[in-house]
Amino acid sequence: MPERRAQPLKKAVAERAERRNLTITLDKMRYALEHWIGLVEDKQRALSVGCGNGHRICLMGLEYGFSSIVGVDPYIASDGSSSEDYQKLLDLIAELGLFGRIEIVKKTAQDYLTDMRDNAKFSLVMINDALHYMYKTKKLLHEDAVCYSNFVGFLADLRKVMNDGSLLMIEEVKRDRLRSMLPMFRKMDYSTKQPAREWKTALEDAGFYILRTVTYLPYLFRKFRILIDNPLGRILCSRYFIICRK
Ligand SMILES: C[S@@+](CC[C@H](N)C(=O)[O-])C[C@H]1O[C@@H](n2cnc3c(N)ncnc32)[C@H](O)[C@@H]1O
Repeated sequence: MPERRAQPLKKAVAERAERRNLTITLDKMRYALEHWIGLVEDKQRALSVGCGNGHRICLMGLEYGFSSIVGVDPYIASDGSSSEDYQKLLDLIAELGLFGRIEIVKKTAQDYLTDMRDNAKFSLVMINDALHYMYKTKKLLHEDAVCYSNFVGFLADLRKVMNDGSLLMIEEVKRDRLRSMLPMFRKMDYSTKQPAREWKTALEDAGFYILRTVTYLPYLFRKFRILIDNPLGRILCSRYFIICRK
């Protein structure tokens, strides 16, 4: 029954994967979520900054017990999601019966925070693969004073709309020189991505407490966890999650 309910989402994920020549599947999305979702105690009201295609938040609404999720994204095509993705997401939300539980706001996260009128706060904020577009620099973040202070200012605004003790989860990819040299990863632009420590320094400056940094263990190796979930193996993994508490 749950699988039947998720069918339109599975189809949307497969269509996007085909269109963009990606290897993403719904099972891989579930697998990625399992790296950190267990740390979330309060599933009342989540905010997804840069939600893009929104497949992740649909999955969270369908299968992970989130009662209300707001996704905010200006839909900048060159950053990975276009107005067409926005329209597709609205249709998908309706098809999944999630209308009323998932709301999509088409504006930048910065404008959303400035324009926010209601007092309802969030019990979880997540920013998946969007920070290196929002605070874009080819330098290390701390070497770009303007970008760094803009980011810390944004985090301070974000803190104001979060409940005390709630979580902020950031998913990013390392600025990986090894990968950028390998042919199969060459289409990915690593130049504006940051090592986890760069985001973490700013998060601490803005008053967040870092709970944990979790390395994403590639789906292909999930059955050989022991080989890769160690300091040496983790060097080869590029994706990470930073989980912090307000
Ligand atoms: C690579 S996509 C990631 C989408 C989605 N989170 C995911 O993981 O599939 C980056 C997203 O960040 C969004 N974005 C860029 N600047 C933004 C801003 N200032 N506020 C909110 N979202 C922004 C883009 O429109 C794009 O959808």
